[in-house]
Amino acid sequence: MRYLILSDIHANKEALTAVLAHVKRKRWEKAVFLGDLVGYASNPNQTVDLVRRLKPLVAIRGNHDKVCSGLENGELFNRIALQAALWTRNRLTRPNLHWLRTLPRGPVVVDGAFAISHGTPIDEDAYIFGEIEALNVFRQTDFPLCFFGHSHFPIVFALTPDAITTMLTSSPCFRIRLEDGARYLVNPGSVGQPRDGNPHASCALYDSETRVLSIHRVGYPIHAAQRRILGAGLPKPLADRLALGR
Ligand SMILES: [Fe+2]
Repeated sequence: MRYLILSDIHANKEALTAVLAHVKRKRWEKAVFLGDLVGYASNPNQTVDLVRRLKPLVAIRGNHDKVCSGLENGELFNRIALQAALWTRNRLTRPNLHWLRTLPRGPVVVDGAFAISHGTPIDEDAYIFGEIEALNVFRQTDFPLCFFGHSHFPIVFALTPDAITTMLTSSPCFRIRLEDGARYLVNPGSVGQPRDGNPHASCALYDSETRVLSIHRVGYPIHAAQRRILGAGLPKPLADRLALGR
């Protein structure tokens, strides 16, 4: 089975549209979404509609989905994130609000092939930034392969009996074949708000038969997304950071 792995779209319709156009030329059979569909950018309903149309689809919730749909009050959010979440909550249609509220919490095992989580498979709101956090997750779980999001940083951690290694992807198309006997934690990067210094949208493709994983960076009309954010009255830093990839 070939999977399209998406995470952290954050209501950026322009980025999601560009990613879906990019992968149209590639072969994939099932979409998998790691959470944070909404929050930050200005097209929550169009983004939810686009993702709901991806079928078959396995999707879990992220921390912004919880706050934007009213499941949580966002007391741990910074001022700008909370402002965007409340703006989003007031604009989501009733069916989209309901759909977001009923997204399952990770981890979820997909087809027996891999697990997915938003933050970590232990705590959906916790981050994996580096090898210490990755090692803790490897030690407390037994998933051979887990895709995660939340950090908005495309990265691969590999655990062999001898060492943990980190692969920070920097090319427009990073590709590896996963090795037997190793365990992996993989972040496909963020579609709608990359934070690794590269403003291009990020997504992954994974073939569970060949075990080939690829992470793709896709350019999109950032100025259009920025104009929409400002036009909606959302905080200016949310528009500025799209061009910086931070
Ligand atoms: Fe996020």
